[in-house]
Amino acid sequence: MCGIVGYMGFRPAAAVVLNGLQRLEYRGYDSAGLALFEDGKLELYKTQGKVADLRQLSSFDTTTQTIGIGHTRWATHGVPSDSNAHPHKSNSGELLLIHNGIIENYDALKQLLISKGYVFHSDTDTEVLVNLIEDVQKSHNYKLGKAVQVALGQVIGAYAITVLDIKKPNELVVAKLGSPLAIGVGENEYFIASDASPFVEFTKQAIYLKDHQMAILRREKPIVLRSLKDDNKADYYLQELSLDLEQIEKGGYDHFMLKEIYEQAHAIKDTYRGRLLGEESLIKMAGIEEHLEKFLNAKRIIIVACGTSWHAGLVAEYILEDLVRIPVEVEYASEFKYRNPIITERDVVIAISQSGETADTLAAINLAKEHGAFVFGVCNVVGSTISRATHAGAYTHAGPEIGVASTKAFTTQITVLTLMALRLAQAKGSISKEEFKSIIAELELMPQKVEVALLQNKTTLEIAKRYQTATNCLYLGRGVNFPVALEGALKLKEISYIHAEGYPAAEMKHGPIALIDENMPVIVVAINKGHYDKVVSNIQEIKSRKGKIIAVVTEGDQTVKALADHVIEIPETLECLSPLLTTIPLQLLSYHMAVILNKNVDQPRNLAKSVTVE
Ligand code: AGP
Repeated sequence: MCGIVGYMGFRPAAAVVLNGLQRLEYRGYDSAGLALFEDGKLELYKTQGKVADLRQLSSFDTTTQTIGIGHTRWATHGVPSDSNAHPHKSNSGELLLIHNGIIENYDALKQLLISKGYVFHSDTDTEVLVNLIEDVQKSHNYKLGKAVQVALGQVIGAYAITVLDIKKPNELVVAKLGSPLAIGVGENEYFIASDASPFVEFTKQAIYLKDHQMAILRREKPIVLRSLKDDNKADYYLQELSLDLEQIEKGGYDHFMLKEIYEQAHAIKDTYRGRLLGEESLIKMAGIEEHLEKFLNAKRIIIVACGTSWHAGLVAEYILEDLVRIPVEVEYASEFKYRNPIITERDVVIAISQSGETADTLAAINLAKEHGAFVFGVCNVVGSTISRATHAGAYTHAGPEIGVASTKAFTTQITVLTLMALRLAQAKGSISKEEFKSIIAELELMPQKVEVALLQNKTTLEIAKRYQTATNCLYLGRGVNFPVALEGALKLKEISYIHAEGYPAAEMKHGPIALIDENMPVIVVAINKGHYDKVVSNIQEIKSRKGKIIAVVTEGDQTVKALADHVIEIPETLECLSPLLTTIPLQLLSYHMAVILNKNVDQPRNLAKSVTVE
């Protein structure tokens, strides 16, 4: 997820673009760039780091150019660096482009362009796109708009782009598919941005491009919208904005955490995009392909992580052992580092970390490497310390996670780990082709099933209101949903400060059942898969002790519904994929509890988003 900003009008563009990028840094902040253009004179500034670092590159407040495009990056292809920062130039230097999104078939397009003599100075998919547009423009002598339309017809992926052609000094072309793009329409000035926060102070008139739409903006001329599919003119709706700046940065949500809970369908799809090729029944993960033998010959897999990432590791243990039949151990990184563990060269260590900066996890990685183990990272931040410390890895494409309480990182980590398990199981032949196909088919349905699970938001709000005075909660789950119970309990603890514990459902009778009384809410994950009947028995044990039962059930479940005080329904799915859905109501429940209790949801007390000390 990146942030794009463009301006064409009468004001000095630098200030508009730089301030706009600053407001979009919640979308990504590992590198930034800006191009200023006037009277055929182009200035291009790019740097690794934040917008504040970009501001240091020049005395922008004295510039006068009235056209500018800028970008704040969240790396997906190519580590954060000056050369990978946007805007990207075409080989001729005549076209400049900024891009938010992912070009899935960029490698094939890059090879084609290289065969035509194009050279590349970055590792990004974006530089491929700007040269593809140039190639189309020059091959057919097209105007910029037509070249953009034809070039995007060859692209698979998601994009929100702005293109500038120095041969056409008073024109900007924008196009959108899958990533957001808003156009601010002022008096003799146009603004372009990933959301309205960069221009809402200048104009409340906005056009939100739809997918497969492009627009040609010409100075002091009416906007022209076209369809990318057939180049026909398209109508547009000029919207009067009502959101304030802070609401816009949060996408209209009250908190980043809620926004990120709702981003999960998109984030899961972005994470398997380009990796899960359902039609060919293929999973393609470069980091796995290059080290397949390491994994297949591993004596065991050790997973090291902390907090929510550790819970994702526990989910992976169930899935990896079940599908790949390789022994898996999950370790708290902090414990692993100091208990003098036995590690050999035949161990594969998987390190999971959203931030890629967690000191405990990094320490565990270094220990594993000292003992000759192969270390594979699953991180969300491209170019983070952990992603560079591991021998190979796979990124989650969750986009920046601003809320301290991890949500979309958890579900995208599970997505990556499930893809890994499926690829390894396929290579090992430990699952049938039919089972492989059924799981990947169901995985492709998960984004829409996550959207259905999110419809239970109001139900979770009502339950949160009912139990806002609780001082203790018990979370129970079985099998692959036991780690979900742990995760649900952690969410509640860390943002509402209510004590909560997660337990394997069957373990309750070995002690925690003594806690159950009419004041104890017990959240039970009770989907109609796995040892469902045993979970129903656990629920009956709780009920007989007057515990208050909140059950996460498969939609249509009547058995648990007859026993529980409250049910939250989620769509039917495979047991191994169910954590992607059962987690959603637990995230929403903790969120609403914290809001009702007036806690600081995005920055809970005592916590940091990234724990960079041991
Ligand atoms: C999760 O909600 C917490 N914020 C915390 O437990 C977090 O998961 C843990 O600190 C690990 O962080 P990482 O994934 O960035 O390594």
